[in-house]
Amino acid sequence: MGIKISGTGSAVPEHVLTNADLEKMVDTSDEWIVERTGIKERRIVKGDNVVTLAEKACRKALEDAGKKPEDVELILIATCTLEEFFPCCACQVQARLGAVNAAGFDVNAACSGFLFALATANAYLSTGLYKNALVVGSEVLSRLVDYEDRGSCILFGDGAGAVFVEPAAEGRGIISVVQGCDGPGGVALHCKTDALDKIHMDGRAVYRFATRQVPVCIEQALQKAGMKAEEVDLFFLHQANLRILETIAKRLGIPMEKVPHNLDRYGNISSATIPVLLDEIKKRGKMVAGNKIVLAGFGAGLTYGACVLVWDE
Ligand code: UT7
Repeated sequence: MGIKISGTGSAVPEHVLTNADLEKMVDTSDEWIVERTGIKERRIVKGDNVVTLAEKACRKALEDAGKKPEDVELILIATCTLEEFFPCCACQVQARLGAVNAAGFDVNAACSGFLFALATANAYLSTGLYKNALVVGSEVLSRLVDYEDRGSCILFGDGAGAVFVEPAAEGRGIISVVQGCDGPGGVALHCKTDALDKIHMDGRAVYRFATRQVPVCIEQALQKAGMKAEEVDLFFLHQANLRILETIAKRLGIPMEKVPHNLDRYGNISSATIPVLLDEIKKRGKMVAGNKIVLAGFGAGLTYGACVLVWDE
């Protein structure tokens, strides 16, 4: 048995940080950022935090699924930008939602976090331990971004996305999952818990890792599912850099029309990129029952993962 996504929701801050704004902060240009990343603007919190963004995304996902907070049995929140060591984000969101029947905990696999949390929910629900879950990616990366480092500050933004998952019909929902870590490569993207530390990134190393590892991981997940890349309708890939998406598409031999993207408007929101994009594409009515879908991501850790699912309504 696999799980299906029966509701989606997202919450992005209203405040927009454009490339023109960044030109005033570091030695960069709109032309360089657009050409090298595809990003034009990103959203930055003013007042919100990972908990309030997650709560807003969850409320929308519940509404979309036609569920009430008290129906929820499990809350998994992927985040790498917590403001408190504890209580975890999931417990704070449980309180704010009034999800009195839910257990919850956080998952930190950085930008792969949503995929890792979704795989965790899939495992829990497959055993019958829980009947449903809210799976969330919520990040306030602006807290950790070094706005004096032009090599990284141009990439990141804030936001949250959530999905409500339940058991799928036979042959539908999540069919296969592949996850992995390259711990030794972790030095390429790190940030200490020290309140004064900021994101340190070797952009080229992360770029090489993503373009090498993600296509392999997707092929493995497709093989496990008994599918070929050309059969897949949509690929929801972690939104980090348009050139990374294009290289992955090329390596898989798939057209970019099958790779939706919104990084031009939101930049890289770490664990939130995939659920925010899922919400956007679902609300546009682009997914119908039976569609074959791949979700795949990579991030600090270094972590990577992919899952294949057949859309179920
Ligand atoms: O979720 C995972 C998060 N991280 C990532 O996904 C990062 C993946 N990596 C990337 O997306 C790209 O490596 C970057 C966008 C970060 C950088 O692009 P690049 O094409 O790999 O540039 P580069 O680091 O090779 O730098 C090329 C040049 C350098 O100048 P020199 O040494 O050739 O004179 C940089 O100093 O571009 C310079 N540069 C910039 N120039 C203007 C670096 N950042 C900027 C900037 N504006 N913002």
